[in-house]
Amino acid sequence: MAKGKSVGFVPTMGSLHEGHRFLFKTAREENEVVVASIFVNPTQFAPNEDFNNYPRDFENDVRKLEEAGVDILFAPEAFSMYPEGFTTAVKVKGLSDKLCGAFRPGHFDGVATVVCKLFNLVMPTRAYFGQKDFQQSQVIRCMIKDLNLGIECIVCSTVRDLDGLAMSSRNSYLSNAERQAATVIFKSLQVAAAMIKNGTAPLDVARNIRSEIEAEPLVTEVQYAGVYNPETLEDWTADAKTNLLAVAVKIGNTRLIDNVIVEL
Ligand code: PAJ
Repeated sequence: MAKGKSVGFVPTMGSLHEGHRFLFKTAREENEVVVASIFVNPTQFAPNEDFNNYPRDFENDVRKLEEAGVDILFAPEAFSMYPEGFTTAVKVKGLSDKLCGAFRPGHFDGVATVVCKLFNLVMPTRAYFGQKDFQQSQVIRCMIKDLNLGIECIVCSTVRDLDGLAMSSRNSYLSNAERQAATVIFKSLQVAAAMIKNGTAPLDVARNIRSEIEAEPLVTEVQYAGVYNPETLEDWTADAKTNLLAVAVKIGNTRLIDNVIVEL
């Protein structure tokens, strides 16, 4: 079907929402054929994480894919992606250990390995990722370059609910009170963005994000909150042109991430 045609590919873990839909829409505009995958990838979840509870909604997902004009859905079973004897891993050193990687060891190895396999199966011209998972998109970009995969990686902006909370399949875990509390994440990033623009030092901005989030009683943990170099994901300690403001927090038992990029 896709011989000689441009192929846009959107890998997902399903439980599709408006964030995913924006990726399908962008892929639809830019390619002759659009392929999506739904695969809840076991190797990117640690044993204590939510693989078993991860929301799955296949029938509704299929309907949403049809509505979005996706041509082909690839939804493999775990045993066909990881047959007995499977032992290879793709590891993007350095980038994978920063930020989320420090709290989810092995997570980005699981992501890089499955995305590499999906790329080899789908052979896309372009692949679409969301800025919400900024570190993931940087890991994939690095893998594409290092392994000469020749795929164009397109990062689409984060789709948010009306109150600013980034859309995420994991938002369905939140109680009403937690859902309300979660708005503190984007609010703190917006304040931080204004501070960066006013010339506040990155370390003070980082401290402010953390203290705003910690002031919300339903927040159980702030894993990281700061101002980072978007290329290396290392802390910015002095003024910089491009700033990644990023956080990972737990509200109750639900882990949420968000980020904004501020260009000066
Ligand atoms: P999943 O969480 O389903 O996300 C699939 C894609 O949708 C990712 O590129 C993610 O960044 C993007 N996305 C999620 N929420 C978004 C939002 N609010 N706005 C814009 N884009 C958003 O990320 C994964 O799955 C997996 O790790 C995967 C890449 C499929 C590998 O297993």
